[in-house]
Amino acid sequence: MKRKKALITGITGQDGSYLSELLLSKNYKVLGMMRRSSSFNTSRIDHLYKKFKNNFDTEYGDLMDDSSIHSIISKFKPDEIYNLGAQSHVGISFKTAKSTLTYNTLSTFNILETIRITNKKIRFYQASSSEMFGITKPPQRENSQFLPQSPYGISKVGAYHTTRYFRNAYKLHACNGILFNHESPRRGLNFVTRKITFNIPLILKGEIKKLKMGNLDIKRDWGFAGDYADAIWKIVQYKKADDWVVATGENYSIKEFLDECFGLVGLNWKKFIIQDSKQYLRPSEVPNLKGDASKVKKILKWKPKVKFKSLCKMMLESDLASNGLDFNEAKKLASKLK
Ligand code: NAP
Ligand code: GDD
Repeated sequence: MKRKKALITGITGQDGSYLSELLLSKNYKVLGMMRRSSSFNTSRIDHLYKKFKNNFDTEYGDLMDDSSIHSIISKFKPDEIYNLGAQSHVGISFKTAKSTLTYNTLSTFNILETIRITNKKIRFYQASSSEMFGITKPPQRENSQFLPQSPYGISKVGAYHTTRYFRNAYKLHACNGILFNHESPRRGLNFVTRKITFNIPLILKGEIKKLKMGNLDIKRDWGFAGDYADAIWKIVQYKKADDWVVATGENYSIKEFLDECFGLVGLNWKKFIIQDSKQYLRPSEVPNLKGDASKVKKILKWKPKVKFKSLCKMMLESDLASNGLDFNEAKKLASKLK
């Protein structure tokens, strides 16, 4: 059987790294498109260059530059394109509203238009987001209303509809995965879950005394990024291009995430967290996300393997290990802070 080729944008991000690993394990050839940055940004994928040297590589490109997309697609000739590249931070999107709107929406258009011109058989995946639902009450599903509350959310609604437009108008195999929050030890340090697990070891070592955070009553449906890579692949393999919600169906507040993680080392978070710090409050919020993933479960037979408590433990264990600590040593340090 012919070996499949996948092009991944946003390869240097959390999801890019898990998806690459999954596709390589399925014998794909993977090419990642990445942007130039002044310092190296490949720490999440460095292990893949060596291990899969004939099947994994990256190429510099820019999703706002159609000629760079065209050149990569014409040369690599992918069977599938996974569009994960985006300004993905909701809070920062309020500060960079115009560029987030432009980049996240037009980048999707640029890829789809290139597919339409070069090879309409290429299958396309768009990283859509539960942030698009905004203030719509849970549970949110494929046909729930989009009421985005941030420039990021609006940009993703634009990209979602762009994907549907190419599917309907030009019959491209263009899919939207509407993924709810998914986390991992590779999560960026300024997303709320990783901010918490990254800073607990620093609190234990006395390197910081207090951590400033925003609104802790918000609820999110948090899954594990590794599980979600599998859903992304299944969405693209399905015979019919469609839109799919991917979620665990359970949600927790940030206070509950703090309870669980600080509890794992025997600390009470209230002593260490400053709530409602102006710096982290957003001009408008998405208060309550909880997805109904019945469709993906029923048709694609996908289900999440990692639950909330295991996710907290996995992330904290990894950040403790990076500081040379295990849970027993962490608890000993914690007893001195009580
Ligand atoms: P991430 O870790 O922030 O990775 C984003 C990727 O996009 C990185 O490779 C980043 O490159 C690249 N990128 C960002 N801004 C760019 C720009 N202006 N030009 C070129 N490249 C740029 O995000 P993720 O968690 O892996 O998410 C992957 C995708 O899924 C994103 O589109 C995100 O919006 C979407 N999504 C994520 C979640 C979630 O909970 N994780 C849920 C729903 C949807 P650098 O490494 O150079 O910064
Ligand atoms: N980042 C951050 N830092 N968020 C905080 C903090 C803080 O100190 N304190 C409270 N929060 C709240 C935010 O206001 C938000 O309501 C919630 O914690 C989650 O924030 P993030 O972890 O930054 O994620 P997000 O939900 O805004 O966005 C993520 O999920 C989306 C899917 O729903 C990102 O991964 C998006 O790219 C993704 O589309």
